[in-house]
Amino acid sequence: MTRVLVLNGPNLGQLGKREPAIYGHVTYAQLAEHLVGTGVGLGLEVEVRQTDAEHEMIGWLHEAAEQKVPVVINPAGWTHYSIAIADAVVQVEKVIEVHISNVHAREEFRRHSVVSPYVTGVIVGLGLGGYDLALTHLAAQA
Ligand code: DQA
Repeated sequence: MTRVLVLNGPNLGQLGKREPAIYGHVTYAQLAEHLVGTGVGLGLEVEVRQTDAEHEMIGWLHEAAEQKVPVVINPAGWTHYSIAIADAVVQVEKVIEVHISNVHAREEFRRHSVVSPYVTGVIVGLGLGGYDLALTHLAAQA
């Protein structure tokens, strides 16, 4: 069974409580449980992780690169400035970048992603369903 890591960056652990008008009412725990179920339906072994610590995310990306595990990543705030996250993402063979909100319809600083040039594809603004779409794509490629 193909393993997939779904990696979430800073503040995404606050889903459900954080700016619900933008990110919705579903909690991070509910999202994680849902995505594992989506994986089962698609024949993927999905592991969902979240961290507020950049070094931890970089370690997970190194793990994915070494083990050749495809990644779905929402780099959250790091998206817009972290060259270190971009440098780690570039090492991973297959990466889908997901943003829950439409970053292009928000503040100017959210319009640029330093990560996007190094990923396979980007899903933006389709809510939490963007993660499911990313998994569906990876399952079709597996
Ligand atoms: C986000 C968008 C980012 O600009 C923001 O910093 C986040 C979440 C999204 O999923 O819409 O934390 O990546």
